[in-house]
Amino acid sequence: MSGIVLIGYMGCGKSTVAKLLARRCGKKLLDADREIEKEQGRTISDIFSSLGEEAFRNMETEYLRKIAAMEEDVILSTGGGMPLRKENAELMKNIGKVIYLKTGEDVIFDRVEKDTSRPLLQDADRKKKIHNMLCVRGPIYEAAAEVIIRTDDKTPEEIADYICRIGGEKWN
Ligand code: S3P
Repeated sequence: MSGIVLIGYMGCGKSTVAKLLARRCGKKLLDADREIEKEQGRTISDIFSSLGEEAFRNMETEYLRKIAAMEEDVILSTGGGMPLRKENAELMKNIGKVIYLKTGEDVIFDRVEKDTSRPLLQDADRKKKIHNMLCVRGPIYEAAAEVIIRTDDKTPEEIADYICRIGGEKWN
């Protein structure tokens, strides 16, 4: 399918860029976290605290299976942990072009410093947590992606422009 799947660490701009892309391409926008929250009738934080992370990861895989089975091309903004499961990474490829928004840890820290909605970031040393997670996840994001875009020096509009350009006819 010729959809677009945006992956990357929390705070890299997936949701913002996905919104811009959906508007430009006239394709359906799906934000995995928001859709899971809607389906479950509770926030991600609530899901983590009441059912645990593994249950949330199972919901992510279920959700991806559902989207991969759809006929319609979509712009999918993923949760930061979605590509970690091998099955998820495969499902994403069935949905569309997988694009990694690669953002430096200092930029991420500035964006999520005061965030209270992401359970994995509620850590006494948030900077170190981000560093450690990125060491593990960086190579996984890179392996899962067909395209890697360094985002630090680009606006969301510039990133969306670039994606539209490399997508060519298929997305415009
Ligand atoms: C997570 C990222 C979050 C959300 C959950 C877990 C992660 O999504 O899915 O808190 O493991 O990186 P965003 O990347 O949209 O913040």
